[in-house]
Amino acid sequence: MAGPCDSPNEVTQYNLPNVLPDMEKSLARELPGTPWDNHRMPVIADDLARALRDARFVAVLTGAGVSAESGVPTFRDALTGLWANFDPLELATPAAFRRKPKLVWDWYAGRRAQLGRVQPNPGHHAIARIEALAPSFLLATQNVDGLHARAGSRKLVELHGNIARVRCSDEPRRVVETWDDAGDGPPRCPHCGAFLRPDVVWFEESLPAHALIAAEDAARACDLLIVAGTSGEVYPAAALPQYAKAAGAIVVEVNPTATPLSALADHVLRLPSGVALPALVRAAWGEDAMRD
Ligand code: OAD
Repeated sequence: MAGPCDSPNEVTQYNLPNVLPDMEKSLARELPGTPWDNHRMPVIADDLARALRDARFVAVLTGAGVSAESGVPTFRDALTGLWANFDPLELATPAAFRRKPKLVWDWYAGRRAQLGRVQPNPGHHAIARIEALAPSFLLATQNVDGLHARAGSRKLVELHGNIARVRCSDEPRRVVETWDDAGDGPPRCPHCGAFLRPDVVWFEESLPAHALIAAEDAARACDLLIVAGTSGEVYPAAALPQYAKAAGAIVVEVNPTATPLSALADHVLRLPSGVALPALVRAAWGEDAMRD
């Protein structure tokens, strides 16, 4: 694994001199009380816009923050994060599922139902637009919520699985389309009788090899990597920006908060991704670029 970059490049912080009052008002409405209530449309530096427009291969790594503006809680927010309110050792490990299969199944079933009620936000749509406009592209997401695909992303690998899918707990490749949720425990696999479980990656489990290899290859081959909405605390995904940087790519971080990855980024957009990513697309490809 490549080590972290020890010589942080210049980090571009964006201040927000331009005003787009409607966008500002709608953000404030959707995110009351958040620190970015007063954010304005960002001005994207010319060299960043040019780098994105000229890149032959753009890669994007996303985490839970990209879905925050859709109303999906992140994991590590100190107040609202899932892991601030639930113990991952009780819910997101194979041992937890062995100990309390019904509790784990029900928790994921509740999250699945909650995710069925949310919609992709402008950040998801902007990433789908980058896919449409860049010559080569790959999106590697840690999110299990399926919102990228619903926004139109197709060149997509899901590093941590997808909560909408259910599989046999004994046979990882056996995905089951329908199940009966009525019993005392999780539903059973129709083929072997083992418990069914969500097709997500739990702590102590390996990532799907095909997804990880594709993401690592893209990180090493891309000209520009956008890292959006991730705390950069969970490996192996957190190593992808290091691979990209070591291979000479421009790294752009989009996150309202500093992370361990900030130091290696060439550009940092300290904004919610639903604001920063559409602005980036428009700066690179023109005002109409967010339209299909
Ligand atoms: P985290 O909860 O660790 O980090 C979310 C990041 O999103 C933080 O850095 C926030 O500052 C940032 N953020 C919040 N709102 C944002 C917004 N509107 N726009 C952009 N960024 C925003 O989530 P992940 O990094 O995705 O794994 O966590 C990685 C993995 O840890 C998850 O995939 C999950 C978890 O355990 C599994 O479940 C296997």
